[in-house]
Amino acid sequence: MARVSAKATSVAPPDSVDFDAIRKDFPIFNNSAQTLHYLDSAASSQKPDCVIDTIADCYRSHYGPVHRGLYPLAESASESYEKARQTLAQFINAPSSDEVVFTRSATEAINLIASGWAGPRLRAGDEIWLSQMEHHSNFLPWQRVCRDRGASLRVIPLDSSGQLNLEKAVGLFGSKTRLIAITQVSNVLGTINPLEAIINQASRHSIPVLVDAAQSVGHMPVDVQSLNCDFLVASAHKMCGPNGIGILYGKKERLMETEPLLLGGGMVDQVQSENSLWADIPARFEAGSPNLAGALGFAAAADYIQKIGRHQIEQREQDLAASAFEVLSGIDGVTIYGPDNSQKRSGILSFNIEGFHPHDIAQIAGERGVAIRAGHHCCQPLMQHLGISSTARASFSFYNNQEDITALESAILETKKILGA
Ligand code: ALA
Repeated sequence: MARVSAKATSVAPPDSVDFDAIRKDFPIFNNSAQTLHYLDSAASSQKPDCVIDTIADCYRSHYGPVHRGLYPLAESASESYEKARQTLAQFINAPSSDEVVFTRSATEAINLIASGWAGPRLRAGDEIWLSQMEHHSNFLPWQRVCRDRGASLRVIPLDSSGQLNLEKAVGLFGSKTRLIAITQVSNVLGTINPLEAIINQASRHSIPVLVDAAQSVGHMPVDVQSLNCDFLVASAHKMCGPNGIGILYGKKERLMETEPLLLGGGMVDQVQSENSLWADIPARFEAGSPNLAGALGFAAAADYIQKIGRHQIEQREQDLAASAFEVLSGIDGVTIYGPDNSQKRSGILSFNIEGFHPHDIAQIAGERGVAIRAGHHCCQPLMQHLGISSTARASFSFYNNQEDITALESAILETKKILGA
């Protein structure tokens, strides 16, 4: 795997965005007894006051059941829930908010499409394509549906720099391919995948594409119409929003073809003792009482990110990661995984130090206030490609700064000293 040779000496905020002031929006950085260098935003991001306040305010002043009551509190709860859906639809430029389904997570959204869309139409001999860098949540649902239907799961290989080897794959998409399910950004390598090329190729064969945008939608502009994807999934908690809520975008005709995953209250039009008629989209996919506070918090996060600007966020995070590349590349024994061009990466940086287990690095760093993740990051097929079992990973958000990178560097140097290399 290539050592990264990105050049960036310091992190200059893009014009007109004061990221030092923005960091103050996040109370966790103001409250800690020890300075918190939070470099685990790919696992879950921190939350700004506006999101926390929106959720608290919902429960304090506006909470009511959604789509279940006719009194004013319930009606206004239903209205604000639908307004949140519109905000999320605009955030990804969906043509209609009916094409945006609230789910519990991006994971649930993928499971919904695997069981409700792919399951009923896959036949023996059909193929679903993924990439070698997918998160387990974009692997396991497809493994099971392929196994159950006698279909094959095919994997786009990676090259030695951690990018898709498209030459080896796109010629193979064809008449047997029923779906391509692919991440926009790798949660381990930070690789930004060239989705336009894949989707163009797929649409020549009328192959639907599902995009896992969990690591991209809060970090770069994402537009489902210009991407022309059929499905896109994302979760709120990775983009400054609350835990426990995500979205599934689907083109209207695709959602109309999809069977619901969960059956119950709120997703039916008519129920008779033997048969039922589903409600229209998107309600048919939202059985059970909707998560009002989650939806409002999610929309507040989208508004917040939109106000900062996703071009600015992308630039800021790429600059931070490029600066960290440079610093870490200078430490003896460090291997950094992923593309060697900082423009092809997001703010995610996985690395190992020769002779040390990543868990030891993460633990020693954690004791010094530097929060990084270590492990296989739910990407064992990718680890097999890399020939390793785990990495340490620093993942940057726009609220990080140069001091976080310096603290990471010190933590690595101390790890080496403590563990004796
Ligand atoms: N998918 C999340 C991560 O990469 C949990 O850490």
